Amino acid sequence: MTSRELIVVTGKGGVGKSAVSAALGRILASTGRQTLILEIDPRENVHQMLAAPPSDGEVVRVAANLYLQHLQPRTVLDQLVRERVRIDFLTKRVLESPVYHHFTEGAPGLRELAVLGHSLLLVQGRVPGAPAIDVVIVDAPATGHGVALLRAPRLVSEVIRQGPVASLTEEVAELVASPQRCGVVVVTLAEEMPVTEALELRADLESAVQRQPDLLVANGLYPPVPVGAAEATEEEGARRLWYRRRELNDVELERLASRWSGPRVEVPLFPLDRGPALVSEIERSLAS
Ligand SMILES: Nc1ncnc2c1ncn2[C@@H]1O[C@H](COP(=O)(O)OP(=O)(O)OP(=O)(O)O)[C@@H](O)[C@H]1O
Ligand SMILES: [Mg+2]
Repeated sequence: MTSRELIVVTGKGGVGKSAVSAALGRILASTGRQTLILEIDPRENVHQMLAAPPSDGEVVRVAANLYLQHLQPRTVLDQLVRERVRIDFLTKRVLESPVYHHFTEGAPGLRELAVLGHSLLLVQGRVPGAPAIDVVIVDAPATGHGVALLRAPRLVSEVIRQGPVASLTEEVAELVASPQRCGVVVVTLAEEMPVTEALELRADLESAVQRQPDLLVANGLYPPVPVGAAEATEEEGARRLWYRRRELNDVELERLASRWSGPRVEVPLFPLDRGPALVSEIERSLAS
């Protein structure tokens, strides 16, 4: 993970993708790499986890070597139009035209490509005004999104064959096809539905882009039941709940162990609210 240019963090909704992205960002920044976390979810919240101000579309410095940007894919596409058209009244007409609107909303893969294209331009130092960045961590908003991101260059290259978007598409395709340059992290809870979805995601990645995830994070695990602990009685509701939830975690961890090849890491459920203290704990357990 420490030499990649792009890391896509994906997984089912609510499993801890943003928290893991923040923790991974801190780990990479601590190795001296200029790291930028790119958040695409309209419900901007990674800044809260890092105790930073909201990005509002700008690159904000969070800590030494660590930056955050909240990005709307549409903004990147609009910027591309501005750069290419250059003439104010024409730019305005393109940006306001229903054709452009339909195209950017509807063309398969275009919005995802905008996110990856922006990431690539960041690590290549081609985004005016942005600091030099070594690695971009994309906090992808939903399960389908991780696969959609990685397959976008192929989809777009089938539709757009010429011009600046086509050449950017080609560069992005090279980036995401390279396991040395682009990493994929899948986050899951050790529960039935999220694990099933993580396994499906793995299969989809394989068939859509012939890529394996580089890391699986099993997040939010209940504490292991102490060896030799007596069974919890009817009256001990909280202890019963704990033991039962951990039992379910163990079943799913075993399912993962038998079906998931490649690196896996387990992260406990911490009794902390969303925020920097939680991210520090996750960072510690990812790093260990
Ligand atoms: N290991 C953990 N221990 C305790 N709380 C956690 C842990 N991981 C995540 N959380 C909490 O779980 C909630 C969901 O985490 P997060 O927002 O990172 O998930 P997400 O996958 O990004 O969700 P979404 O799909 O909605 O973007 C947050 O409130 C977060 O603080
Ligand atoms: Mg999130």
